[in-house]
Amino acid sequence: MSSFSKQFEHRRRLLQWLSASPLLAPGGFALGAADRPSKLEQLEAEAALIGKPEDAINVFDFEPVFFKNVPPAHVGYMASGIDAEATLKANREAFSRYYLRPRRLVDVSKPDTSVEILGVKHPNPIIIAPTGGNKAFHPEGEVAVARAAKVGGHLEMLSTSATTSVEDCTAARGAPIWFQLYASPKWEVAEHHVRRAERAGCPVVAVTVDRVAGRNQEAFFRLRRTDTRTCANCHEPGVQGSVKRKPAYDGLDLAGVPNLQSANMTWDFIKRLRGTTKMKIVIKGILTAEDAALCVSNGADGLIVSNHGGRGEDSGRATIDVLPEVVEAVKGRIAVLIDGGFRRGTDVAKALAMGANGVCVGRPYLWGLGAFGQPGVEKVLELLRTEFRVAMMQCGVRSVKEFTPAFVRRV
Ligand SMILES: Cc1cc2nc3c(=O)[nH]c(=O)nc-3n(C[C@H](O)[C@H](O)[C@H](O)COP(=O)(O)O)c2cc1C
Repeated sequence: MSSFSKQFEHRRRLLQWLSASPLLAPGGFALGAADRPSKLEQLEAEAALIGKPEDAINVFDFEPVFFKNVPPAHVGYMASGIDAEATLKANREAFSRYYLRPRRLVDVSKPDTSVEILGVKHPNPIIIAPTGGNKAFHPEGEVAVARAAKVGGHLEMLSTSATTSVEDCTAARGAPIWFQLYASPKWEVAEHHVRRAERAGCPVVAVTVDRVAGRNQEAFFRLRRTDTRTCANCHEPGVQGSVKRKPAYDGLDLAGVPNLQSANMTWDFIKRLRGTTKMKIVIKGILTAEDAALCVSNGADGLIVSNHGGRGEDSGRATIDVLPEVVEAVKGRIAVLIDGGFRRGTDVAKALAMGANGVCVGRPYLWGLGAFGQPGVEKVLELLRTEFRVAMMQCGVRSVKEFTPAFVRRV
């Protein structure tokens, strides 16, 4: 087999694995099949892997290259949802139920994609969602992501579980970043993280509230079994061992801390945090109008509609389906961000039209990172920005604030 046809075969098998779609059978177009106006799915399935970021036509082009480069256990960590992955799938599938209502004959020759989030202007509404352990995908990890975010002018959130410190990531981004907090069950741990983030110049702490229990990441656990490396060579057991390459925990004694989740967190924690830090507080993981209203009444500055990329609980709703009730409950009093399955500029356009102030992305920039390092992340973000700008112009929208719910209908 030539190296080209090996690549071809490799990508086809990856995509078969991903979609289990009968359309991906070999043999060119299924000419006798029912009318299928779009040939794209098959063409994508049969495309050779891209060899450089510039060859990418959409963000999905990076995913199979990530799969090729990154060992199976780490692929599993990135790709996995929870249990049967119904929430994971819902996030993506829901976008097809919303369609755009473009307006015509508007001068969109000078589109302004900038947004203001918590009093700061950003050149575009696409935000780096916090993801742990980026060095599992590329040796430069979060630094590569931060440098790419700087090139594209993206707001960035750094995970407590990052493999790069908040100081180094801030330096690489060249601007203040937001710090995502895993509080743990012990106040002193949370306090330590928050004080350090504040010293590093973070203006905002994003408190993740949707990880309170263990989780059965089935895809991850199955893929890990196929990894021939010995996980114990890098990953040490126990809570203290698990944070060994996570600089946020440097100098912290985790003795007596049973895990890093926050099963005991309540709204009192948010009030206590409010009294502890001058940073703005954003609550990540809100999925109901009731909790959105509580974010407002408990003094949060913003919230993120998020189901942790389908990694929190299964049988959940797509975040884009949740957005309207949250926007309605918040009534513009605090910032509303959203994440979960955003892969296209039109996805971003829909969320902004429906009232989000910004959209966070997770896995796509990780695909870029694992595929090509910083240039891969740069290209993923560039594709998303370009697609969003095009969607905005096609809708007849000159600036983001002109987007209103009238531009979107649900099927
Ligand atoms: C590999 C991976 C690691 C993540 N780590 C964190 C984390 O440390 N903290 C956090 O609040 N969310 C974490 N998330 C959730 C993301 O912040 C975000 O909510 C989610 O990825 C958005 O969905 P998307 O991946 O479909 O874009 C992680 C997600 C992934 C895929």
